[in-house]
Amino acid sequence: MENAIELKSVSKVYKTKGADDVVALDELTLEVRRGEFVAVCGVSGSGKSTLLHIIGCLDKPTSGTVIVSGTDVSGLNDVELAKIRSERIGIVLQDFALIPYRTAYDNVMVPLYFSKNRKNAKKRIMESLEKTGVADLAKREIKKMSGGQKQRVAIARAIVNYPDIILADEPTGQLDSKTKKEIAELFKTINSEGVTIVVVTHDDELAKTADRIVRISDGRIV
Ligand SMILES: Nc1ncnc2c1ncn2[C@@H]1O[C@H](COP(=O)(O)OP(=O)(O)OP(=O)(O)O)[C@@H](O)[C@H]1O
Ligand SMILES: [Mg+2]
Repeated sequence: MENAIELKSVSKVYKTKGADDVVALDELTLEVRRGEFVAVCGVSGSGKSTLLHIIGCLDKPTSGTVIVSGTDVSGLNDVELAKIRSERIGIVLQDFALIPYRTAYDNVMVPLYFSKNRKNAKKRIMESLEKTGVADLAKREIKKMSGGQKQRVAIARAIVNYPDIILADEPTGQLDSKTKKEIAELFKTINSEGVTIVVVTHDDELAKTADRIVRISDGRIV
């Protein structure tokens, strides 16, 4: 079966003026099968977010090859990367990156602006909010929601374009244990529908839900 994600000898070096270079990823190699659910664990600064950003086409590696759902994205320009991102990948960032003064509905609509496929937008937005359990909050502003509710809206936004891959950075970081469990189950349900999932997490509950735990240390899989 074709892999959903392949990283071959991927390095990411951050260059900062007046400071030493930081090797965030060090010739990292990783394969994730189509439909697999992988949890990435590692201490702070080990390169987890950097890895997720590179898989998610938000950032480019310094060297190495990155293949995302069959496409080699290593040499693509920003416009091409944005296209792959909007068509194939749903991303849930650490701070949600939701628009606070807009409703849940408006936030979930955002990826559809950038998509060619805008048919049935209303139906798809409401389906996503239903799937993540916050359809009753569709018209509520994000700033008036709890952390768990915001997290659900962020996941709804990530699935609205029917991505092949969902990437999430500490999606249960700020949540109480009951909500953590519910969010872990939500990812499991989305995964059971065939979506490949990679989550960065410190949360044992969420890591246990995954098919496989990948450990990263100093920018390498260990
Ligand atoms: N834009 C940047 N410029 C310079 N260094 C950076 C940049 N982003 C990250 N780094 C460095 O790269 C290394 C890996 O960072 P990364 O954010 O990937 O870690 P992480 O595993 O996600 O950590 P955390 O668990 O704290 O979120 C760290 O040493 C960090 O300081
Ligand atoms: Mg991080």
